[in-house]
Amino acid sequence: MANTGNQISLSTEELPKKWYNIIPDLPEALPPPHEPGDGTSRLELLNRIMVKTCLGQEFSTDRWINIPDEIIELYLQAGRPRPLYRARRLERYLKLPEDKVRLYYKREDLSPTGSHKVNTALAQAYYAAKEGFERVATETGAGQWGSALSYAASLVGLKCVVFWVRSAHDWKPERRVLMNLYGADVYASPSKETEYGRKLLARDPKNSGSLGIAISEGMEYAMNHQKTVYCLGSVLNHVLMHQSIIGLEVMKQFEKVDDWPDLMISCLGGGSNFGGFTLPIIREVLKKKHETKFLAAQTEASPSLVKGEYKYDFADPAHHTPLLKMYSLGPEAELPKVYAEGLRYTAASPIISLLRNKGLISAVAYPTDERHVFESARTFVATEGFIPAPESAYGVACAMDEALKAKKKNEEKCIAFNVSGHGFLDLPAYQKVLGIK
Ligand SMILES: Cc1ncc(COP(=O)(O)O)c(C=O)c1O
Repeated sequence: MANTGNQISLSTEELPKKWYNIIPDLPEALPPPHEPGDGTSRLELLNRIMVKTCLGQEFSTDRWINIPDEIIELYLQAGRPRPLYRARRLERYLKLPEDKVRLYYKREDLSPTGSHKVNTALAQAYYAAKEGFERVATETGAGQWGSALSYAASLVGLKCVVFWVRSAHDWKPERRVLMNLYGADVYASPSKETEYGRKLLARDPKNSGSLGIAISEGMEYAMNHQKTVYCLGSVLNHVLMHQSIIGLEVMKQFEKVDDWPDLMISCLGGGSNFGGFTLPIIREVLKKKHETKFLAAQTEASPSLVKGEYKYDFADPAHHTPLLKMYSLGPEAELPKVYAEGLRYTAASPIISLLRNKGLISAVAYPTDERHVFESARTFVATEGFIPAPESAYGVACAMDEALKAKKKNEEKCIAFNVSGHGFLDLPAYQKVLGIK
């Protein structure tokens, strides 16, 4: 057999050809979106500004959804399938009992723009082009989703407009250049491009923005511009479904090495990489075929699953969205700044929230000084050699913490974590938190 080192790879023929939709398998029916009852139908608005195919998928009860050949082609172009690695070097560094505590990680950092966000960006952009739209509009926090949609739009011949949370926009100039290279127009949010942005800037010209504000601006922009459609990079059911490609690959990869995760860990902002990584495996647990546990790593800046309330709430502060049942801190909550900007969101996806409420998912929140998270990421860089995005570093730190707990308790444990993105454009964050001169 060929020596594949610590990589567990799939051939291009092994790329999954269907996405997994967990909705029919959930332990109880997913609470539907509600109208706020103020006379304006938010569902009608969504119908007007979103990609029709994606909205259809949002409410679909089909367990498996065929991935069109054109999207398969785009996934191959973007380098899928992606490898799973056994973290043998990290295991040795942590002095984990050999083959008793095992660590594996999925390499979503290998995508062209540096994160898992490309998996849904390609699908959404493809459907938008097919439906005759000329432009996609969106928000971005860390800049990863904005880069992914700019890239996808460019591949399918669409224009792209990105509203980027001002605080992150101002300290990541290279990511803006990347979006510009793909031809996107990028605005620091709040911006003067929308009425909502102008209102906030009039109140406070230094408003540093939030993901919620950027969502409100992206939606307003799509409402007011012809042939423009609004795309969202997390939270919604169809986004998690597109991301299921990650977990479906991971299942095939574990089968290849005749192992199976006892615990799956990833960072969680809105829930798209966590959901994509875990939902196909959660299906196995719901079928009682496995007893895997699932742990989301969050920041104390926005601990939606840890401290949020499970209730109907808006997903954006301008209240353009319908009410969704989710663990929420309130769309207007003031969130402390952290370098893991992509985790700074006030609510968790309805699907993840329901599974959390039913006890299938646990969550932990790390302190806002981010020291432990970045120190752990430094160890990962030094041993495995890959640089995680600040958001992904939360999953890395959490997996290392859980591995050391298992070692202490003398337990046998297989832990899988998702490296949702790379940190090549986030090195100033490493520099600041770790005090690198
Ligand atoms: C690399 C990376 N990982 C994770 C996240 C968090 O988002 P989600 O919870 O939707 O995966 C982001 C968000 O921007 C991100 O850029």
